[in-house]
Amino acid sequence: MKRIALKAYGKINLELAVLGRRPDGYHELRTIFQTISLADRLEVRLSPGRREVRLETTGCEVPAGKSNLAVQAAESALAELKLRARIEITLDKRIPPASGLGGASSDAAAVLRAVALLSGRRLPADRLLRLAAALGSDVPFFLYGGRAIGLGRGEEVYPLPEESRRHCVLFFPGEGMSTAEAYLSLKRPPLTPQTAGPRIDWADEINLFCSAVNESLESASNAKRRSGGSYRKIGNDFEPPVFRRFPVLAQAKKILLQAGAEAASLSGSGSAVYGLFRESSDARRAAQQLQGRAKHVILVRTVSRREFAAQFRAPAGRAAFP
Ligand code: C5P
Repeated sequence: MKRIALKAYGKINLELAVLGRRPDGYHELRTIFQTISLADRLEVRLSPGRREVRLETTGCEVPAGKSNLAVQAAESALAELKLRARIEITLDKRIPPASGLGGASSDAAAVLRAVALLSGRRLPADRLLRLAAALGSDVPFFLYGGRAIGLGRGEEVYPLPEESRRHCVLFFPGEGMSTAEAYLSLKRPPLTPQTAGPRIDWADEINLFCSAVNESLESASNAKRRSGGSYRKIGNDFEPPVFRRFPVLAQAKKILLQAGAEAASLSGSGSAVYGLFRESSDARRAAQQLQGRAKHVILVRTVSRREFAAQFRAPAGRAAFP
């Protein structure tokens, strides 16, 4: 039997714009993902034999059957690699489910990598990305980690330059938010079909989007330095409907900003809110102010792509995957 232990890091969304409904029923997104140190712990074991996948979980409650994305990921990796093998997964679930912090997607991406690594077979990046995208819109991001832009339904991922480490306060009310339900509450109109004629090239579009976000983060820091309180917002289109359902989130965001967060926002479609801080002492103070208002107030930090990828490197220091 071969085994591997991995951390499946969570994420926050530094920006999330929902442009409209697409003909395939999904929504067209523009988002920026950032991995954080809150992580599920996985052990994946592979032994020869009949094709079979088993999952045992501890920590936050999640299904252990086929509806768990980690099981689906193992099955799709076995099928793709045409492997007859038994996979056993032990999952210590620390990222709260339905929090918008990407736990299930990250578990799935980690399992895809784990099965490929344990099998010793090469799974080129394009095939790995295709499997990831079929599992869920956020899964491809967790093959990269760090900071990255997400386009399309979120599955089209472009790594961004790393920023210096930030301290992050997570506020999760305990009750999760279903992603599908959150999209329904947006009531976005169908996207206008693409017409012929001048349109911005995708590279220009990414540049425009990233500079808008960087400007927004920058001006948040500058505004804080100048006036000690006026912030430009990091946008997330899910905030109005999700804050209506969980008013405590709007209060948490306000408290985080007043406590000196450079940025504070809902993550994904909720229901966790985060605040980003340069100084750990400010983050700790903000977390203290939030204690008692929610089931989970968690102090974490951002995780760079280098740190994220370190665990997937082969012993010789060669990247196991591109
Ligand atoms: O891709 P994923 O399985 O994570 O999506 C869950 C649900 O969220 C989808 O079934 C869809 O209802 C909604 N969704 C969407 N547009 C996206 C991503 C997700 O409408 N870009």
